Amino acid sequence: MAAGGKMDTVANNRSASEAAGKDTTLIYRQSRWTRLTHWIWAFSLFFMLLSGLQIFNARPQLYIGKQSGFEFNNTILQIGAENTANGPRGFTEIFGHRFDTTGVLGWSGPPGQETPRAFPSWATIPSYYDLGTARVVHFFFAWILTTTLLVWLVAGLINGHIRRDLAPRVSDLRKLPRDIVDHAKLKFHHTREYNTLQKMAYGGVLFVALPLMIVTGLAMSPSMDSVLPWLNEILGGRQTARTIHFTVMVLLVLFFVVHILMILAAGPINELRSIITGWYRTDPPEKHDQPTERSA
Ligand code: HEM
Repeated sequence: MAAGGKMDTVANNRSASEAAGKDTTLIYRQSRWTRLTHWIWAFSLFFMLLSGLQIFNARPQLYIGKQSGFEFNNTILQIGAENTANGPRGFTEIFGHRFDTTGVLGWSGPPGQETPRAFPSWATIPSYYDLGTARVVHFFFAWILTTTLLVWLVAGLINGHIRRDLAPRVSDLRKLPRDIVDHAKLKFHHTREYNTLQKMAYGGVLFVALPLMIVTGLAMSPSMDSVLPWLNEILGGRQTARTIHFTVMVLLVLFFVVHILMILAAGPINELRSIITGWYRTDPPEKHDQPTERSA
């Protein structure tokens, strides 16, 4: 494996840990391909999210099916502004339920200079209305993200990361209830292996969410209609593809929030060191039931 030799290298940093009265072990946990691709997709997704919200602002409605327009009754989400007795208000309507979202969604801006816009200027790239630039930024990072995922997939298959760290095992199912309880109590085990919830979350992002994002993105492109006309059909039409694309974006934002909270709770220095340098400090053996040092 590319980082394989190093991946299984265990640096017993006994002197430092013994001095501290602990028997922790520093291991090489994340290969350079995992780290490099992780930061490229994190960076790309940031730009894709903000430029995507600008593109959404050009038509702040989501529909199910093939058609969109006033004559159809298939809107499932709408963000807009309306005049009320109390002045202009922003609203968000989901499945017919309307919420007042003034100041954030629909009607926002500095006091006295509010404008009607679905997502506020601080959440979009560019901050002012410019659909052309947003599309250029979005598509540029979409290709970077797609290439990065392919590189991650090939490297992960060659260096064994996918088989060893992400592939679900029967024992993962057995460990799931305890894992949920441990997470709820913010009790983390610092081991070589990902726990069951991590495998589910990372596997869900890498094998479901991001590929679905790419496929629904391609399905929205008119030029793809001529190359893969069936893609739109299987996804239920261009408007449904757009709705799935938006929903996956919301799920990825939720993943990101939980991801950061878990990193902060599990020990940000150790976690960040592992995803930047590859080196990770594991618990003393008696603190966890999984062996820290694995044979390849
Ligand atoms: C859109 C942004 C992000 C996404 C989609 C994302 C997704 C992921 C995924 C899928 C993995 C597993 C990678 C693998 O095993 O191949 C991972 C690992 C990790 N990420 Fe992120 N990440 C994002 C942003 C961040 C940020 C901003 C940080 C730091 C503040 C971070 C810190 C980490 C760490 C420390 C790990 C390793 C976790 C562990 O070893 O237990 N991530 N991330």
